[in-house]
Amino acid sequence: MSKFIIKGGSKLSGEISVKGTKNFALKIVPASLLSSEVMEISNLPEIEDTSRSIELLNELGSSVQIKNSKYYINNKDIKSTVISRDIGKKFRASIMFVAPLLARFGEVKFPHPGGCVIGAGSRPIDLFLDGYRSLGAEVHYNDGFYEIKAKKLKGCEFFFTTVSVTATESMLMAATLASGKTVLKNCAMEPEIEELAKYLNKCGAKIQGAGTPIIKIEGVNKISGGKIKILPDRIETGTFAIMAAASHSELLIKDCRPQNIQILLEIFKKIGIKYEADENNLLIKKTDSFLSYSIKTHEYPGFPTDLQSPYTLLMTQATGSALIHETIYDRRLLFSDLLAQMGANIIMCDPHRIVVFGPTKLQGKQLTSPDLRAGITMMLAGLIADGETTIDNIYQIDRGYEKIDERLRSIGANIIRTEE
Ligand code: EPU
Repeated sequence: MSKFIIKGGSKLSGEISVKGTKNFALKIVPASLLSSEVMEISNLPEIEDTSRSIELLNELGSSVQIKNSKYYINNKDIKSTVISRDIGKKFRASIMFVAPLLARFGEVKFPHPGGCVIGAGSRPIDLFLDGYRSLGAEVHYNDGFYEIKAKKLKGCEFFFTTVSVTATESMLMAATLASGKTVLKNCAMEPEIEELAKYLNKCGAKIQGAGTPIIKIEGVNKISGGKIKILPDRIETGTFAIMAAASHSELLIKDCRPQNIQILLEIFKKIGIKYEADENNLLIKKTDSFLSYSIKTHEYPGFPTDLQSPYTLLMTQATGSALIHETIYDRRLLFSDLLAQMGANIIMCDPHRIVVFGPTKLQGKQLTSPDLRAGITMMLAGLIADGETTIDNIYQIDRGYEKIDERLRSIGANIIRTEE
């Protein structure tokens, strides 16, 4: 099993580029199934989760070719609309293949998606199923598989009772090939949703309002292929910004869109972390000390749950106390016990709220990465801790951060990847 061994205390400096965003890549790859024509993708991050998506496409009969780092996906000869148990259980985003398969082929069969354990139970998919039913599909559950059928989906009005990113994107894709008009209400507003709609519209879809709570879609019979460059990962951007601040380093974060992490930068201003930003670059300046500030995770443009764990680490280095209120996922604060084992002063009030007192010196530890975002946080903690930190189960980190050890080494981090 691979692990990271990190020696803390190295100063970070120089520049680091942000890779394409995982949470857009995981939607655009399945969106290719909406068309029989070729999709060309550039800036696809080389992470485990995108490899799983390509594997799944291959299983369905897709032809995927890579030339000069660009992916060419041809879904003319899809042979199957069944997502196997094996791959469906491996990653939560297998759920993103359901809507395009259903919309284009009228049927799909899939197991309950797997993935990291951060939410209630096995992370529900009720919103997706309710949405497909509203579009006129029949939903059955047999022998561990959902089976959904509809000769032709029919436009509908659908209200999301919980704001969900992937459910919004799924309904947007399904309604693109439905007959008539669909109105989606209480939609998630993440930039990746707007980007997906922009791409589909370029290919002939008729989607209005993506990026706002109400999305209107006029169904079309088919869409064409197209070209898409994956936008930079806003969570990676925020994570690097926090890493620079927590380690009191100056770091230039390149190829990013600072405007997509506005809430983090507004907090930086309040607590005294200095930075300069333009459209594509973010320079975090060396800051010796900064203040604590409480946050509550929220749907975009609020504080992203995916930055909650690195932000918690940042607060261990801030002066004062901060309440961290995780409102999206039930189990996303459990990792804070690992920070406490490293010496952080954290009190858990209940499963959704912790208080972090800082600043505290952290000590290197032997840890296991519980999930993707907690895993990267353990790496950042290792970088600023005294002594050596070992992190097991780094598949969880490789799922979402491309060659992270190599990239952090290039800015001065002391990290070794070992295969034991
Ligand atoms: N929910 C339901 N029913 C559903 C779907 C979701 O109750 O059918 C609930 C969830 O249990 C959760 C809330 O809705 O409490 C929000 O979950 P959401 O569906 O928005 O999450 P998601 O779409 O599965 C995406 C990202 C997550 C990110 C969240 C919130 C992808 C592939 N994943 O998940 O990313 O945390 O939105 O922003 O886009 C990550 O990258 O580490 C990650 C977990």
